[in-house]
Amino acid sequence: MNEIAFIEWFLRDIEPYVREKYASRATVAVSSKEDVTDLLTEVDLSIQKRFVEQAGDRFPGDLIVGEEGEYARYPEDPEARVWLIDPIDGTYNFVRGLFPVFGVSIAFAAGNTAVAGGVSLPITGDLFLAESGGGAYRNGQRIQVSTSRRLEGACLDVDFSSPSERMDLFRRAEGLFGKTGQLRCRGAAVVSLCSVATGDTEAYLHAGLTPWDFAAGEIIVKEAGGVSSRLDGSPLRLFDPCAGILMSNGALHQDILDNLQP
Ligand code: IPD
Ligand code: CA
Ligand code: CA
Repeated sequence: MNEIAFIEWFLRDIEPYVREKYASRATVAVSSKEDVTDLLTEVDLSIQKRFVEQAGDRFPGDLIVGEEGEYARYPEDPEARVWLIDPIDGTYNFVRGLFPVFGVSIAFAAGNTAVAGGVSLPITGDLFLAESGGGAYRNGQRIQVSTSRRLEGACLDVDFSSPSERMDLFRRAEGLFGKTGQLRCRGAAVVSLCSVATGDTEAYLHAGLTPWDFAAGEIIVKEAGGVSSRLDGSPLRLFDPCAGILMSNGALHQDILDNLQP
């Protein structure tokens, strides 16, 4: 099984478990991490544990990076083969039953760049997959970013995350927010990124994501014809210190950057 086939297999295999746990979420064990609203559930831990076991068996020697516990680490070798897992992106939504908008995200990277990625949205059953140079797919159907060129008609997805990042983003993006047709905030980066890839929205903006939040989403957006960068327009590399991200349909990328304050 190659990398993309493993990602697809793992995400399909874990879906029933996530759905069952979501349905019985009132009994799921939940704790807080650094902030009271930064939640961790037994489901995050079980998915990551299962992934570590399965990926470790199939790809011995590869580094595994994941959001939880000791796996929240960056590779020392910039050329390393790395797997990145966000076991549940949108844990707050999962716990509170919001929308329901959350996903499981897995990427495989070499040299600071994701080369394969997958996102599962277990409640809708949607599975997004992309491999470098091979296009992006939702449930086997090719997907494409939107062709929209006007901010006035665009839908921009933003995450407001923690209070300090939020206030900084308000300051930097005030002009942009004032010009953009529609704004959304969904609290699950992978869902927002997949929406850019399908053309349902034009762009996604975040002041401080970590690599496991965006690695799979980024390759899905790019293979669907979109563009990624830091908020200052510089190239986005997986393990560089975080300086915010912008992913868009490409046509609106520069316009959005031009409307952000440094
Ligand atoms: C969070 C979500 C959210 C974003 C946060 C992330 P988590 O991931 O992607 O949309 O605003 O910055 O930490 O904690 O639910 O995996
Ligand atoms: Ca996340
Ligand atoms: Ca998570």
